[in-house]
Amino acid sequence: MATFISHNPTETQALGEEWGRLAQRGWVIGLSGDLGAGKTQLVKGLARGMNITGRIQSPTFPLINEHCGERLQLFHIDLYRLETREQIIAAGLEPYLIRPNGVTVVEWIERWIGDQPPAAANFKFRRVHIQTLGETDRQIDYEDIGS
Ligand SMILES: Nc1ncnc2c1ncn2[C@@H]1O[C@H](COP(=O)(O)OP(=O)(O)OP(=O)(O)O)[C@@H](O)[C@H]1O
Ligand SMILES: [Mg+2]
Repeated sequence: MATFISHNPTETQALGEEWGRLAQRGWVIGLSGDLGAGKTQLVKGLARGMNITGRIQSPTFPLINEHCGERLQLFHIDLYRLETREQIIAAGLEPYLIRPNGVTVVEWIERWIGDQPPAAANFKFRRVHIQTLGETDRQIDYEDIGS
């Protein structure tokens, strides 16, 4: 597990941007953290790293925003409004959460996997937790699970 301490939104975006530059088809990045932790800020950076120019905001309805990158598509999902796995599957989101044809980033990933990592992921899954330490300090812990 790696830990990154961010002192402001720019640093959080810079971390996302670094990931975006390295992103590969099939990656799923699962974000957890309280309201206002900075999940969407991280996605903004991720999109920039993938050379996506459109505006990034948390999807509400629809639950997913698709962005065309230079190399890959970015699927940005927000599960805040869905309570159970069954609801997520009924919403048709499962294919994006398992080996997407592009890169998927998911806010409120715990709605899908609870506190557990996905069992034996056969795709690259990056589990990210953002903790609010102070007004602008954030602790970002992340770990890659699967291949
Ligand atoms: N170090 C930091 N990293 C990220 N955001 C920060 C940081 N310090 C302050 N902020 C502020 O915190 C807010 C984070 O908002 P953001 O929408 O990214 O949160 P979120 O986790 O996506 O929340 P939600 O669960 O409501 O979607 C922004 O207003 C941002 O400016
Ligand atoms: Mg958000």
